[in-house]
Amino acid sequence: MDEQEAKIYTAILIVSVTIGIIIFYFILSIVRQQRKNAQLYQSKIEAEITTQELERRRIASDLHDELGPLLSAVKMKIGSVDISNSEDQEMISQSEEHIDRIVRRMREIANDLMPHSLLRQGIATGMEEFINDLRKTSGIKINSSVQTLKHLPEEKSVHLYRIFQEILHNSIKHSGAKEINIDLNQDEKLIRLMVKDDGKGFDYRKVFEENGGHGLRNISSRADILNGDLYIESANNQGTTITLEIPLSQPN
Ligand SMILES: Nc1ncnc2c1ncn2[C@@H]1O[C@H](COP(=O)(O)OP(=O)(O)O)[C@@H](O)[C@H]1O
Ligand SMILES: [Mg+2]
Repeated sequence: MDEQEAKIYTAILIVSVTIGIIIFYFILSIVRQQRKNAQLYQSKIEAEITTQELERRRIASDLHDELGPLLSAVKMKIGSVDISNSEDQEMISQSEEHIDRIVRRMREIANDLMPHSLLRQGIATGMEEFINDLRKTSGIKINSSVQTLKHLPEEKSVHLYRIFQEILHNSIKHSGAKEINIDLNQDEKLIRLMVKDDGKGFDYRKVFEENGGHGLRNISSRADILNGDLYIESANNQGTTITLEIPLSQPN
């Protein structure tokens, strides 16, 4: 190799390395940008979920604490009217029944928006009440072991409760299961929720790929808010087991 050739090879090498570095840098920036976009998207969803929860809580407490007593007062006033005409009396008692129905329905709506027991008596009681309602309405055998949780702030317990609700709704609505097992426990490091059904199973990767699964996405976003790990095991005709593990010491 003469000196001229050596110079050409060196030049080619330098140009190739420079192009290589530029391409590498370019790819790196794209990956970084994509990661940043994904993070932004995730924080947007998390902010939306948090705002939605606050709004739900506000509406639920307005319904429960303000409109409820107001309607009861109206009912009392109507009941205290002294009427001798029997037709009018009949009308009054019908109105009282209507008010009772409105109050009952309003409590149900408030409870769906934000379960009273969840906030007042904690997540274990909230979950037990929800499970008992499902036992009555679904006709599915539901076995549960729900431990009272310590050290779980209220806003986190709301997310955990919503995840639990969606998993159970899905099992009841989609799986055709005969039996569902629920386990909530806690040790010094983790809170672990496990829900297992013996239904038909499903391909959750496909659901995510096809951009479906609003409920599953919501579960996954809430699990992220809790810094939790979500595991879905599901196979055709072998049921579905969903496990959520929430670390206790992690800052949030
Ligand atoms: N436990 C389950 N057993 C069988 N299929 C399920 C189960 N959970 C979810 N799926 C399937 O995953 C899909 C997505 O669930 P989800 O995101 O909650 O949306 P939705 O309940 O509104 O259909 C469901 O439509 C159903 O096909
Ligand atoms: Mg669902």
